[in-house]
Amino acid sequence: MENGRIKTHIKGFDEHLDGGIPEHHLVLLCGPPGTMKTTIAYNMLFQGAKEDDLNGTFFSLEQGRESLHRQMSGLGMNPDAVDDRLSIVDFGLIRRNLEKMGGRNWMDIFKMYAENLKKNTEYDLLVIDSLPVLEILSSFTKPREDLFYLFEWLRELDATVIIVSEIEPDAKSFGTHGEDFISDGIIHTKMERVNDENIQRRIRCVKMRGTAHSTDYFTLLVEKGLLQVARVISK
Ligand SMILES: Nc1ncnc2c1ncn2[C@@H]1O[C@H](COP(=O)(O)OP(=O)(O)OP(=O)(O)O)[C@@H](O)[C@H]1O
Ligand SMILES: [Mg+2]
Repeated sequence: MENGRIKTHIKGFDEHLDGGIPEHHLVLLCGPPGTMKTTIAYNMLFQGAKEDDLNGTFFSLEQGRESLHRQMSGLGMNPDAVDDRLSIVDFGLIRRNLEKMGGRNWMDIFKMYAENLKKNTEYDLLVIDSLPVLEILSSFTKPREDLFYLFEWLRELDATVIIVSEIEPDAKSFGTHGEDFISDGIIHTKMERVNDENIQRRIRCVKMRGTAHSTDYFTLLVEKGLLQVARVISK
């Protein structure tokens, strides 16, 4: 970690973020399906563990451990290579096991795991994949207030938190319940039609408190397990 910043480890992107995400920020990583949100978040933990000796926890609410393991191994990021620093919590599995015992408050269970792992592993980085699933499970009654208090709670964890969220391709805002305003940073991913045949993935930093960052879109590329950005070439 340099200057209290956590690298995204997307080659070429950290340079446009003053070196990375300020420590202890809560950052929304949002975009439509298939825009590599899970990969970007996991890559941060994986490379952070390998390169910067950071401890990380990946809370998977959408994808099971095996599916995640397979996908990340396919991208050259086998979780076993960093298992002393990277914990994966398969929330679907926990849910299936506990459901047999009757109704549960999933938000409390999420918090219990996040807190216990913090005590045991002292993670620097926490990924929640994804916020909409956590919201559904917790059956928020007053979404704005509930989200506000969740974010307040996450701030107390003393970790940098990446919150993966889903938005429609043509969405006008980055959050439906004000999470875009209460987060410290927003990274947006999208697909862009370049011409009739080609669609490219794009990424940009919409906001990052305390950071002189570029607000430009960059083309996101994956090669041999390495995430990198390239400048968008204007026509
Ligand atoms: N080995 C690989 N090499 C390159 N690209 C891959 C590889 N495996 C998967 N992909 C690409 O990654 C995409 C999915 O990435 P990821 O799961 O990170 O996206 P996501 O935004 O989290 O999607 P979702 O909205 O479904 O959660 C796939 O659609 C595929 O195009
Ligand atoms: Mg995903």
